[in-house]
Amino acid sequence: MQRKILVTNALPYANGAIHLGHMLELIQTDIWVRFQKQCGHECYLVCADDTHGAPIMLSAEKEGITPEQLINRVYVEHTRDFASFHIGFDNYHTTHSDETREYAEKIYLALKANGLIEMRVIEQYFDPIKLMFLPDRFIKGECPKCGAKDQYGDSCEVCGAAYTPTDLKNAYSAVTGAKPELRSSEHYFFKLSDARCQEFLQTWTREPGRLQAEASNKMQEWLGDPASNAAAANPLTDWDISRDAPYFGFEIPDAPGKYFYVWLDAPIGYMGSFKHLCNRTGLNFDDFWGVDSTAELYHFIGKDILYFHALFFPATLKFSGHRTPTKVFAHGFLTVDGAKMSKSRGTFITAESYINTGLNPEWLRYYFAAKLNGSIEDIDLNLEDFALRVNSDLIGKYINIASRAAGFIAKRFGGALLGGDDQKFRADLPGIIEAADEIAAHFEARDTARAVRRIMALADTVNQYVDKNQPWTLAKDPAQDAQLHHVCTALINAFRLLTIYLKPVLPMLAANAETFLNVSPLQWSDAATLLPAGHTIKPYTHLMQRIDPKQIEALIAANVHSLEATVTTVAAPVPLSLEPEIAITDFTKIDLRIARIVDAQHVVGADKLIQLTLDIGEEKPRNVFAGIKSAYDPAALVGRHTVVVANLAPRKMKFGLSEGMVLAASGEDSSGLFLLSPDAGATPGMRVK
Ligand code: MSP
Ligand code: ZN
Repeated sequence: MQRKILVTNALPYANGAIHLGHMLELIQTDIWVRFQKQCGHECYLVCADDTHGAPIMLSAEKEGITPEQLINRVYVEHTRDFASFHIGFDNYHTTHSDETREYAEKIYLALKANGLIEMRVIEQYFDPIKLMFLPDRFIKGECPKCGAKDQYGDSCEVCGAAYTPTDLKNAYSAVTGAKPELRSSEHYFFKLSDARCQEFLQTWTREPGRLQAEASNKMQEWLGDPASNAAAANPLTDWDISRDAPYFGFEIPDAPGKYFYVWLDAPIGYMGSFKHLCNRTGLNFDDFWGVDSTAELYHFIGKDILYFHALFFPATLKFSGHRTPTKVFAHGFLTVDGAKMSKSRGTFITAESYINTGLNPEWLRYYFAAKLNGSIEDIDLNLEDFALRVNSDLIGKYINIASRAAGFIAKRFGGALLGGDDQKFRADLPGIIEAADEIAAHFEARDTARAVRRIMALADTVNQYVDKNQPWTLAKDPAQDAQLHHVCTALINAFRLLTIYLKPVLPMLAANAETFLNVSPLQWSDAATLLPAGHTIKPYTHLMQRIDPKQIEALIAANVHSLEATVTTVAAPVPLSLEPEIAITDFTKIDLRIARIVDAQHVVGADKLIQLTLDIGEEKPRNVFAGIKSAYDPAALVGRHTVVVANLAPRKMKFGLSEGMVLAASGEDSSGLFLLSPDAGATPGMRVK
């Protein structure tokens, strides 16, 4: 029976690059969806960029662009990265869309009509310089418990204590460094503490199969267990779903200056993206999301966002007249060489750097597949094991089967396979056809590690068959022609079967193998049959290279960042030792101008310098050497606006003439270097005063 399935994976934030942690989730999801499609089911994969919230607003501001400009640029980068890893989205949208707005408003209004929205006045920290309420993550100070400095407003990274921002000692704004003030404001709450929500979630989270056992147990912390009369350790409280302007998001209907909190509209982005797909293709939205829908609906997510997907989102859906997900599949976190991904060690690996270093995306797909088992455990990318495993399994075991047989079929038998007795071939390939159902069950259960182990065990038996029959020895004796033809035909059939099984993991390789085998796209059901007598194959061209360990070294080198240029926080205020006072006339002697960075290049032989070509509104661009190489990659500077001292006497340097100076902030210690940017709208040549 054909199943109707809709799948999503978590929406990546639109203010950062896609890294291999994201890829772990995307690859897991893509394998599962490709498997369903290969089985002939009607299955769709949709996703979007998660574009709202204060961090995105502030990042854009820092770059001197609008949030819309930022999210449009990131959309292009993200979709390029997904395509390069063969993630087969049926639709990739953005939460900053009409569709998502429509559903966010509808859901909110339905919850309100159900008596589940309440307005309350709360007190919150406010940045008096930036004139905005500060999210917890943008307030820092000393931990109230252990006194550690520079801790975030929600928890201490040193002692692990959890608290609220007002508990911090000597709190300061991470945006401006200012001392925040408590101010009151009206906020909207979703009444999760309402008995209806509690009862619904207590049942829903325990329904068999909804959540993995570990996840369902974790939810007891908030819900308790009515069956055993256990109280919740951390009872669910009402959820604050509004934020005050300035905020980048959707304004709440009939509440000017109030916006939906990003986590309210983010999961609704799943619906928005699917609606966008429906609009494009004529699919019926309610067949999948309507309250009576019988379609299967699955969310693949990381364990860090279970709370939103297993509590908030289902409750939001339930009490706004929508169906809830069939299952939520959480996965663990990716570590690299046994440790958390780290920028300074070069193990915070971006998807882009992986591709640019020339590594094959299917190597990573295979490695992740070999490790993913459907649980919430973390998964380690061990770089040495990665190279060994891909080389020995994919090249040594699988690809080799085709390359060893193809030459003889082409040269000795005109590319044609032997016809005749199917039974004989089946006997030569023991268990390979019969394994189809078992392997399918492993893919279905998201235990791709077991699927891969089973497939590689089959490849081992095929290689034993090769060693036993030694086609290269048979080829030396013309009297053995029929036997050689038989053995090579069996091998090509074996290769075809293994390709069917590996296709969800290796879609590109499978497509190339289909061309070589001269067959139409392989379905899962094709595993029940062998190639027909007299079938001809195409000449073999090499299907996959081995990993060269040098490529791994290059990958790490490409990801080492000594200093992070994108941090959005500042350090605690310290007493400043200022320069002697000056008169305004002293200041006006300095002619500061807005400059656009037209070009930026490394300087051969200089450790600290970047050569900038600056447009400051003059006829000819200026050449400026700036000591910012430790913090910036030249490519990332091109197109940016900054501030330059335009009347500084030119200075002759070893590398050429420097005609000005760009302005950057830095601290006493080596905590970074931060190039100045004007707000959006400033143009080259404008005076700064
Ligand atoms: N925008 C939210 C999700 C909203 S869903 C309605 C978010 N974005 S994220 O970019 O931080 O993460 C996207 C997904 O990638 C999440 O499922 C997250 O768990 C996953 N991962 C991010 N880093 C990861 C690893 N290092 N390892 C594995 N998955 C990780 O959360
Ligand atoms: Zn502490």
